[in-house]
Amino acid sequence: MKINRSKVVIVGAGLVGSSTAFSLITQGVCDEVALIDINEERAQGEVMDLRHGIDYLNRNVRVKIGAYDECGDADIVVITAGPPPKAGETRLDTLEASKKIVRSIVEPVMKSGFSGHFLIISNPVDIIAQYVWKLSGLPKQQVLGTGTALDSARLKSFIGDMLHVDPRSVHAYALGEHGDSQMVAWSHVTVGGKSLFEILDDNGRRFSRVDLDQLAHETVKAGYEILERKGNTYYGIASTAVGIIKAILYDENRIIPVSTLLEGEYGVHGVFCGVPAILNRSGVKEVIELHLTEEEAEAFHRSAEVLREFVQN
Ligand code: LAC
Repeated sequence: MKINRSKVVIVGAGLVGSSTAFSLITQGVCDEVALIDINEERAQGEVMDLRHGIDYLNRNVRVKIGAYDECGDADIVVITAGPPPKAGETRLDTLEASKKIVRSIVEPVMKSGFSGHFLIISNPVDIIAQYVWKLSGLPKQQVLGTGTALDSARLKSFIGDMLHVDPRSVHAYALGEHGDSQMVAWSHVTVGGKSLFEILDDNGRRFSRVDLDQLAHETVKAGYEILERKGNTYYGIASTAVGIIKAILYDENRIIPVSTLLEGEYGVHGVFCGVPAILNRSGVKEVIELHLTEEEAEAFHRSAEVLREFVQN
């Protein structure tokens, strides 16, 4: 009898990959997690360490070393492999190195008969997601990048701190590149159903010092600040990736901003960009097209153009 197990393969067992695996097993998200890394010893060490705690978790998720020829029945292949930006570099500076690594991953995964979803974390994530989509030949719904999902979560966290509310009660989107050119759709930020602009207007004295440009700036810089302090970022992106994985595996129809191919939405054609999308078992089911203000739309287009330039080169 063939048992259908939900299986997530993580390629890249560094800090991002292993944190993603840890989050998957502590939340008991799927039946099986397989780790692949060019450094097999490292992957083996992570697998051992992850498995040894199973006794104290909610369920016995199988954790094992993966192999490319076993990806045929994977539901999701997560690609985390790639170098983090060095001091003074942006995510875009890691493009060539990441492309090379990613090519060496996608080819053997596709050879295995894989027909699931690729979730790309490797930076620069929007461009790499587009590259994987092209290389794999999979439908656009099945290849997505974490995009501005983490930036949006960071933004919600900052707004939540400012207003003293749970970030999960905040709706806010960073859009465009997961990088320096991203923008915030302030006209669509709501807290408890109320527009942030109205909240600030109604509480003039309390929030007189709030500077939205500064908040947007902190959101963009957050990743670099963490890199400067500890050399890598991994918990935030791992939680983000697992949120996306759950939305897909559990057919949630949850809306998360991810990097996906725009084909006319937001007036952009042929570029992967971070935009809110409905995620379910089919992957990216539908892009939500926010009605941006003129100024916001211009900022969004500038960001999309930055990505387009790199995709074309
Ligand atoms: C960050 C990495 C994932 O922003 O780009 O934390």
